[in-house]
Amino acid sequence: MSVILAIESSCDDTGAAVIVDGHLRSNLTATQEIHRRYGGVVPELASRAHQQHLVPLVTAALTDAKITPQDLTAVAVTRGPGLLGSLLVGTSFAKAYAAGLRIPLVGVNHMRAHILAHFIEAPRPPFPFLCLTVSGGHTQLVVVRDPATFELLGQTHDDAVGEAFDKTAKLLGLPYPGGPELDKLARQAEAVGFDPKAFPFRVGEQDGYAFSFSGLKTQVLYFLQKATAANPSFITENRPALCAAIQRALVDALIRKLTKAVRETGLRHVAIAGGVAANSGLRAALSATAEKEGWEAVYLPRLEYCTDNAAMVAMAAHFQVEAGDFADAFLSPDPRLGLV
Ligand code: KG4
Ligand code: ZN
Repeated sequence: MSVILAIESSCDDTGAAVIVDGHLRSNLTATQEIHRRYGGVVPELASRAHQQHLVPLVTAALTDAKITPQDLTAVAVTRGPGLLGSLLVGTSFAKAYAAGLRIPLVGVNHMRAHILAHFIEAPRPPFPFLCLTVSGGHTQLVVVRDPATFELLGQTHDDAVGEAFDKTAKLLGLPYPGGPELDKLARQAEAVGFDPKAFPFRVGEQDGYAFSFSGLKTQVLYFLQKATAANPSFITENRPALCAAIQRALVDALIRKLTKAVRETGLRHVAIAGGVAANSGLRAALSATAEKEGWEAVYLPRLEYCTDNAAMVAMAAHFQVEAGDFADAFLSPDPRLGLV
């Protein structure tokens, strides 16, 4: 029997989960509200909040799963990529906890875990499949051959798509993190029939499977500067419509590359992962494109498995334990850990 405690602390969400023989038993996340005040994640404060939350969260995750520490057969932890200080808190805790219980440690790659979140519950994609991972730090188009074999087709040259959502939302005066706020207002605009093409925003085309999102922020900034010079209340008067236009431009760029990838690889099982996979515009566009292009199936994770969570770390750890992939006592965080 395999009973794994999994810890996630790569950015500003602290997570603890328990998985038993591949079945998720508990999953708790403590989101750090403190960063809202500063308009972005403050690394030092994130480390401190992880340290405050982790022990109570682990206790609660074990209680929820009706598991005692002595039942555990391994401890898993996110090793990277992420913020060094945040990762240090999680890895130090996990190493000490595993050593205290004399059980093995599993080091998990956060980006692989986002993808493997698809195996927590049905419908699970069959291997091989395509996955578009879209988060605050990454935008990656990946071929997933099996739980341990990933092929990176392409990624962003500059900002991640989540960053583009957050930065443009900030220009519109929305609170951090702007992605979900921008999504909410875009939905309001579309509900009243606003045409998202009314503003001229577009993400420029890149070669192959590469993405570039930094240009959109500049486009929006210049557009707003001009518009507010003519009408100082332009943003307040048009905020939902602007959100819808920005969201449409970002989603279009993602869908264009995904469509190209499906056509060129022939892989017609398509998944999305990461925080931006929670975006309602992306989810709707993906389902519509699947129908239009005749894809076999699309896989949209439940919202709590899109943004950072320990359930995905637990799932990834389950596969690693099955493969005998354990860490040694020298495990240390790698803030820039690559997907492959
Ligand atoms: O995967 P994640 O929780 O953390 C990272 O590993 O980066 O992703 C966080 C990102 C943030 O940029 C956040 O604004 C974005 O995901 N996000 C969204 C939505 N929910 C979260 N972006 C657009 N629409 C959403 N509904
Ligand atoms: Zn993440």
